[in-house]
Amino acid sequence: MKVLVTGAAGFIGYSLAVKLLARGDSVIGLDMVNDYYDVTLKEARLARLRELGGNRFTFVRQDFSQYEPLVESLAGLEFDRIVHLGAQAGVRYSITNPHAYLHSNLAGHLNMLEIGRHRGVENMVYASSSSVYGGNTKLPFAVEDRVDQPISLYAATKKADELMSETYAHLYRLPLTGLRFFTVYGPWGRPDMMMWIFAKNIAAGQPIPVFNNGDMYRDFTYIDDIIAGVMASLDNPAPDDGLEKAGGSTKPHRLYNIGNHSSEHLMRVVEILEEQIGKKAIIDFQPMQPGDVRQSFADIDAIARDHGYAPTTSIDVGVPKFIEWYKEYHGV
Ligand SMILES: NC(=O)c1ccc[n+]([C@@H]2O[C@H](COP(=O)([O-])OP(=O)(O)OC[C@H]3O[C@@H](n4cnc5c(N)ncnc54)[C@H](O)[C@@H]3O)[C@@H](O)[C@H]2O)c1
Repeated sequence: MKVLVTGAAGFIGYSLAVKLLARGDSVIGLDMVNDYYDVTLKEARLARLRELGGNRFTFVRQDFSQYEPLVESLAGLEFDRIVHLGAQAGVRYSITNPHAYLHSNLAGHLNMLEIGRHRGVENMVYASSSSVYGGNTKLPFAVEDRVDQPISLYAATKKADELMSETYAHLYRLPLTGLRFFTVYGPWGRPDMMMWIFAKNIAAGQPIPVFNNGDMYRDFTYIDDIIAGVMASLDNPAPDDGLEKAGGSTKPHRLYNIGNHSSEHLMRVVEILEEQIGKKAIIDFQPMQPGDVRQSFADIDAIARDHGYAPTTSIDVGVPKFIEWYKEYHGV
């Protein structure tokens, strides 16, 4: 299979490309390699993909929010399926940099739908986010829940992506699957995310900012479990059979949560990090941040039912694996 993976220099896109190359697929990785976080890490991921993939890996450095240049950059390249993982991520950054979300998540998503439509791909899988659930108080969060009250611009753009996708599944019968990821972590992760910031600060003897005075819960999902869910969605396009799908569509469009189905107290993660790094954390308790939610918890029944998805990595196993990689990457 030939797969176009956007966001291939990013955490999840890179991890997916590794898995696809390992099973013998060809990958076209597309990414603008922006400097939202350390570009060296993105370049290191790309170097590894070139090494693993040889001539089955092609890299296209392109901003997908620019339609004409995007079309030109893909001319002459063949692909059967798309996994669209490139986006401007992060809840807090969307408060200060709203336009990055307009370009990458709204214009960018529409452009990738247009590519999928005009290239007649067999399947397109795209990233949504658990943040679409906003301040939902019904737990766990299920794809049947209404999600019409986003509390950050990031969440609003992800919900808009789901709506645009529904329209393309209706108008052009393009098979689409939207994945709402829950707090992803693991090797080759993201330096702007809590797990990495805590690890870095604990190791350096610096305070860690703990929001809502520690009264926070997250459904932490290990990267390998996320990739298992993405692969299952990629291999099984939503059928155009008029039946109601996960998320409520009768078009070829499904929505799934991919989480660990386990809402963990933030301070438990801090404890595991302390054990693995061998230092006590200095805690700087802070109030709740604008746009943030107190708890996330994934109902994974839909993807378990349709694809047999079953996460296998608890934080007791996954956090030590992340720290092992983190030390190796930093040579400590
Ligand atoms: N990591 C998580 O916990 C998490 C949770 C929920 C949803 N998601 C979503 O999953 C997807 C992948 O996230 P990630 O953690 O790998 O993020 P990431 O930031 O590591 O990767 C995203 C990549 O997209 C690229 N990109 C951004 N805008 C672009 C543009 N206009 N053109 C081309 N490339 C562009 C960036 O350069 C980056 O390498 C994103 O859609 C994100 O919103 C992630």
